Amino acid sequence: MTYATAVERPVRPNPCIRTFWHMGQRLSFRTSPSRPSGRLPGSTSSAAAELRGVSKTFGAGDQAVRALRDVTIGFAPGVFTAIMGPSGSGKSTLLNVLAGLDRVDAGEVFIGGTEITGLEDRGLTLLRRRRLGFVFQSFNLMPALTARENIVLPSELDRRRVDQDELASLVHSLGIADRLHHRPSELPGGQQQRVAIARALLGRPDLVVCDEPTGALDSTSGAEVLSALRAACDERRQTVVMVTHDAAAACRADRVLVLRDGRLVEEIDAPTLDRVTTALNDAGTPAAAGSVAS
Ligand SMILES: Nc1ncnc2c1ncn2[C@@H]1O[C@H](COP(=O)(O)OP(=O)(O)OP(=O)(O)O)[C@@H](O)[C@H]1O
Ligand SMILES: [Mg+2]
Repeated sequence: MTYATAVERPVRPNPCIRTFWHMGQRLSFRTSPSRPSGRLPGSTSSAAAELRGVSKTFGAGDQAVRALRDVTIGFAPGVFTAIMGPSGSGKSTLLNVLAGLDRVDAGEVFIGGTEITGLEDRGLTLLRRRRLGFVFQSFNLMPALTARENIVLPSELDRRRVDQDELASLVHSLGIADRLHHRPSELPGGQQQRVAIARALLGRPDLVVCDEPTGALDSTSGAEVLSALRAACDERRQTVVMVTHDAAAACRADRVLVLRDGRLVEEIDAPTLDRVTTALNDAGTPAAAGSVAS
């Protein structure tokens, strides 16, 4: 082979690597080389998710913070649960251990019947991709990608076929069907969060975890986001666990759990504003002012 033919030869892009630019940096993601089977080992529980006797401590000695203390909770399929409690009571830690983002010190965590506590990193990563959806207060969308590209990114990273009918129905129900070619910076916060919700719901994961999803939104946008999460449970039988500081937002859920000092101190089924407000006062925090759940 001559030098000339060698340099003229087109470079074949690696189909397992997706690359784009974000804030001047080149980001590459390696995707799975083949379509996954979708099966994960060790199924034992019928709940969508479960914590059994979970404890989690950060730091050691004088600096130790016991973020979760012997917490046991089950999350039934299709149920919308809100988690409340004072700042530092362990809400985000609970969500993180439930989603396998943090390891526990004691106890067991199950997702869709699979015990994740003993999974090694690769197994956990696969499980998170296939069985979990995430929604964060700050949206966490890729700014260089369009709304549509953001929504399908987790599926593409996992080399899963995107169900175009499901995608169309999802974005239609979320009211963002005509926003799909816009980048996040071109969309208001409420629409960005609905894009993040579409990303979390596509592929029907067992569990959708949301950490203060309405925390950065005005009341109208917040109410729309809550309606979208409510519909995910009612119409798609998805299981949603949402951390919030807003008592009225929590009342859109089927039940409210209240944490204090890393312990589960109250469980309210069919919550009302009165009951939630009383429970929050008992836990040492007043209900947040300003409702997004009108
Ligand atoms: N990575 C960490 N390292 C050390 N301490 C941590 C870490 N993450 C959480 N903590 C501590 O664990 C406790 C529980 O934190 P967590 O973030 O779960 O609270 P939260 O209820 O979500 O609070 P907020 O309402 O302010 O978001 C806090 O005392 C916090 O400072
Ligand atoms: Mg938190």
